[in-house]
This record gives sequence, structure tokens and C-alpha cells, in this order.
Amino acid sequence: MSKLVSAKAMLDKALNGQYAVGQFNINNLEWTKAVLLTAQEMNSPVILGVSEGAGKYMGGYKTVVGMVNGMLEELNITVPVALHLDHGSYDGAKACIAAGFSSVMFDGSHYPIDENVTKTRELVSICNDKGLSIEAEVGSIGGEEDGVVGKGECADPEECKLIADLGVTMLAAGIGNIHGKYPDDWAGLSFETLEAVKSKVGEMPLVLHGGTGISEEMIKKAISLGVAKINVNTECQWAFQQATRKYIEDGKDLKEKGFDPRKLLAPGFEAIKTAVKEKMQLFGSADKA
Ligand code: 13P
Repeated sequence: MSKLVSAKAMLDKALNGQYAVGQFNINNLEWTKAVLLTAQEMNSPVILGVSEGAGKYMGGYKTVVGMVNGMLEELNITVPVALHLDHGSYDGAKACIAAGFSSVMFDGSHYPIDENVTKTRELVSICNDKGLSIEAEVGSIGGEEDGVVGKGECADPEECKLIADLGVTMLAAGIGNIHGKYPDDWAGLSFETLEAVKSKVGEMPLVLHGGTGISEEMIKKAISLGVAKINVNTECQWAFQQATRKYIEDGKDLKEKGFDPRKLLAPGFEAIKTAVKEKMQLFGSADKA
């Protein structure tokens, strides 16, 4: 039996407690194991994010569900863990629900608002029936992720209310945030938009995408204004890549007999653990499991 949980209870608790649960995107087995072990060590709830591209790369959604469920059991993970589709399409969300994910994001932000509403409403009803959590998005998140490019426009608070009223668990509202590296001339988060959205949607946990390059000060302010989930992807990619590159440049494996992929990936695994730990401390989710 799966120990995966919906993200609803952990996010409602975070909203009340004024901290945020981290969503860390996973790309392979080492990544997944690093995030889960760190969450357990930090006694923190956690959300594993899977983009459609990463799901395909890892061998399909059912493979991901099998891998994560296996780790929860065999690594004795007892903190709350949600397995969440990140920036899902309508079909992708349905496929993940069928495969056993405990949470999905339907990113209908590129549709006209009426179509976003219709599709979100249908998916909310399916998720409610199955006890799964669902995230919706209004106003695109800037930058490029898995081939999906957004300009980073700020969400319209009225549209946010329309989508929130459909009964979604959490809402990603664009407030000038960008995936990946922020440009030097970035204007910063629009707290004005965040406050306007919050005043319309009330007790709805808000989601901040693009959690890699946002300053500590802005993260804390966003949490104080109702952000209860923060997504991190690029930070772990950088950490993994830098550690692996250093290992190769040091040429240690070449001096040894044979080649052991487990040794090659070990520094990246440790680097992700460090990155996740720092984010959990910043978001305030440590010891909140
Ligand atoms: P970063 O890549 O900037 O950490 O953003 C991740 C994200 O928002 C995933 O949805």
C-alpha cells in the first residue's frame, strides 16, 4: 500500500504555521533518494515534483510511482511525502492520477481563462473523488522549464479567485517569479500582486515557483503573505552538476580499477542533500512533520 499523501494537510498546516513546504523536483533515483532522506533527517514534510519531461526520462509515471513507493517503505520514510506532477497538461494530469500520484498540478495558464476554468473544474472533481490534491496556475511563471516558456506576467487577482473557487488545493499565481536564473535587472517579486491575490482567495495556500534565485528576504516576506509551498528545481540541478563535474575533473575514478557509476553519482547525491537541507531551513519546514 502506498504511503504517499495528498499535499492538502501539510499545506494547510504550513499556512497556519507561517512556513512553506518545499517542492523539490526529481530527475533520477539518486535525486529522489537524496530528497527523501533529507526530509526524514530534517523531520520535514516534502513534495516530490515531477515534470512531464522528467517523468518520461525516468521511464514513465508508473515507474516513478513504483520507485518512490519502494523507497518510502525500504528507507523507512515516515515524514509526509506527496508525489506531485509539476506544470502538468490536462492529459498528463489524468495519466499521473491513473498511475498513482498523490497530487497534480494542472497548468492551464496558457489557455484563455474560460478554458482554464473548465479543465481545472473537471480535474478538481476527479482529484476530490480520489482524495488527491490539485494545484492550478494563473499568470505564467517566467523562464523556461522543460520546453514550456513563460514571460512571468503577474496574475489577475479576479482570475485567481475564479480558479480558487473551483476548489483547488493550492494556487500558483504569477507574481513576477521566474524559473532558473533571474536576470540582473529583475524587478523582484510583486508583493502588491501577492497581497491583492491573497485578499481575494482567503485561506488558500499559495505556491511560489522559481524558488532557486529568490533572496532570503523575499522568501520570508512571501511566506508572511500566504505562500505555503515553494518549488525548487534549478538549485539541485546546479548542485548535482557541479559536484559530478568536480569528481570527473579530479579524475579519481580513472585512477581506480574499473568504473563504478555509484561512485560517480555519489558527490551529486551529497550535494543535493545539502541544497535541500538549506532550503528546508530557509522555508521553515524543518521539524514540522
Ligand atoms: P527553479 O528551477 O527556479 O528552482 O523553479 C522550480 C519550479 O518552479 C518548478 O515548478
